[in-house]
Amino acid sequence: MFFVAVALLCSASVSWSAPVPCEELLRPLDRLHLHRLEGRFALIAGSLSNLTYLEKFKQRDSATINFSSNTSDANISYTSTILLHDECLYHSYNISLQGSSFTFDGTDKSILSANYVHTSCPDCVLMRMIVESVKRQHLYLFSKRREVEQKEMEEFKAQVACLNMPAPAVMDPTKELCPEETAAQTEETTEEQKD
Ligand SMILES: *[C@@H]1O[C@H](CO)[C@@H](O)[C@H](O)[C@H]1NC(C)=O
Ligand SMILES: *[C@@H]1O[C@H](CO)[C@@H](O)[C@H](O)[C@H]1NC(C)=O
Ligand SMILES: *[C@@H]1O[C@H](CO)[C@@H](O)[C@H](O)[C@H]1NC(C)=O
Ligand SMILES: *[C@@H]1O[C@H](CO)[C@@H](O)[C@H](O)[C@H]1NC(C)=O
Ligand SMILES: *[C@@H]1O[C@H](CO)[C@@H](O)[C@H](O)[C@H]1NC(C)=O
Repeated sequence: MFFVAVALLCSASVSWSAPVPCEELLRPLDRLHLHRLEGRFALIAGSLSNLTYLEKFKQRDSATINFSSNTSDANISYTSTILLHDECLYHSYNISLQGSSFTFDGTDKSILSANYVHTSCPDCVLMRMIVESVKRQHLYLFSKRREVEQKEMEEFKAQVACLNMPAPAVMDPTKELCPEETAAQTEETTEEQKD
């Protein structure tokens, strides 16, 4: 009888929607399913711990990432577009995966570390990057949609708050996305541009 009562109490407390602890909110993905990455995602929102970088980030009108489907388990590549001051900027990246962590090829993990973070949004990708030398963090939410549900945005805001980062910049979903890049437009990305 006692156990039944405890069980009932526990299930009742779950339905009160207590705040999710930060530890749970920032949990790295247990395992990255590569099929989840296929295709093109639009940037929904992002936060950067350094206000100078956050201001710069806010100037972009839109951004996308497109993971390449021709992937091995450990090495994947993606291209990004950024619409900034009416100009499309194209970059491409090769990354190596280890679990849900990844490193940019040619970049030491002690300089820039990154991982995919758990999100309850089914068509989203949440990337966290830490520039170790200056302890600068970036958290970016991407989705197959241009806009996410309010509860998905609330979750992202809570994740940003857990990291003590400034309130995220939310992209305007009505701004157009850059067209797909052609090989000629894609430049190899230097260290500086990863910000
Ligand atoms: C933010 O970045 C700028 C430019 O790199 C740097 O000068 C400044 O010290 C950084 N601020 C903090 C709080 O780290
Ligand atoms: C994404 O990239 C792949 C591989 O480069 C390309 O075939 C595909 O057309 C791109 N898709 C979009 C929507 O940009
Ligand atoms: C896909 O990857 C395989 C193995 O790395 C490579 O042989 C092939 O050329 C790649 N195909 C394309 C279209 O990039
Ligand atoms: C994967 O990336 C690592 C690190 O850059 C590199 O050493 C390795 O050759 C790559 N493997 C493949 C199959 O491209
Ligand atoms: C990514 O890897 C491919 C194949 O190894 C290479 O041709 C390309 O230059 C690399 N791109 C970047 C941005 O490192």
